[in-house]
Amino acid sequence: MIFKRHRRLRGSDALRDLVRETYLQTSDLIYPLFIKEDIEEKQEVTSMPGVYQFPLNLLLIEVEEIVNLGIKSVILFGIPKEKDEIGSQASDVQGIVQRAIRLIKEAYPQLLVIADTCLCEFTSHGHCGLLKSDQVDNDSSLARLAEVAVSQARAGADIIAPSNAMDGFVYVIRQALDEAGFQNIPIMSYAIKFASSFYGPFRDAGESAPAFGNRKTYQMDPANRLEALREARSDEEEGADFLMVKPALAFLDIIRDLRGQTQLPIVAYNVSGEYAMIKAASQQGWIDEKSVVLETLLGIKRAGADLIITYFAKDLVRYLKEEE
Ligand code: PBG
Repeated sequence: MIFKRHRRLRGSDALRDLVRETYLQTSDLIYPLFIKEDIEEKQEVTSMPGVYQFPLNLLLIEVEEIVNLGIKSVILFGIPKEKDEIGSQASDVQGIVQRAIRLIKEAYPQLLVIADTCLCEFTSHGHCGLLKSDQVDNDSSLARLAEVAVSQARAGADIIAPSNAMDGFVYVIRQALDEAGFQNIPIMSYAIKFASSFYGPFRDAGESAPAFGNRKTYQMDPANRLEALREARSDEEEGADFLMVKPALAFLDIIRDLRGQTQLPIVAYNVSGEYAMIKAASQQGWIDEKSVVLETLLGIKRAGADLIITYFAKDLVRYLKEEE
């Protein structure tokens, strides 16, 4: 027995480049945008340095920067002025998301606009579905979510991304989109969505924290791997075009397992808390932000994700340009 010389392939930049297995590219990235009704200036999210809530009148300045960087898709979250029990504003023709979609598509028709389809930013109680007494009711929520999806498609959304975690949402949304003539609008399902504490900063950004209780009756238990794969399988059967795993970092094993189960594109959501931790540590000077971001996103891709939704998208594009 002789020992093996793995270092042979690490001897120079050229050799390391030759055997590199995983690459990040700008076309892998989806950038989240928060649009808030009734503000005049952009507002930085305290727990997410570098991430802002935008008023409609400043949105296109941000989108121009995104397009110029070469980012090809964004996912939109809206914060309405008025919230009510059923999240009426989520499906309003003049709702904040619908207006944002029209504005962006008119100015940048080639940019892919993904609409997050959920109620939590729009309901007075902050839950993702409709309430029956103090329970989030599955089946009445479905009809409501289908209305939201169709109104987003009518406004011009290119992809519908339901994140509400009700059972059957892909099925009813697919049907509703087809009936409304949107057979060609894909569904990017938040298929495997864990009830995670890593969403904390997002709930500041989206002003969508539940007013009571938590989301554990509809989002998944982080302990469960087989259940995650069942969730993904049923969404695929119901007609999903993309499957998402969320969050990403504590669930890389799930991304890997899903890669073995599906031939659909896999999307990983590198969520707000994952962003906040890296930002906070690098602001303290405890880690090097650029190399940690590159390593993190590479890990998500290596686990099996095709696409990454990340608040680091703009930074990553700049890093990739520096590396060229
Ligand atoms: C809405 C939604 C959430 C996120 C994306 N869509 C929050 C939640 O479920 O409470 C979280 C994203 C992030 O943390 O970056 N349903």
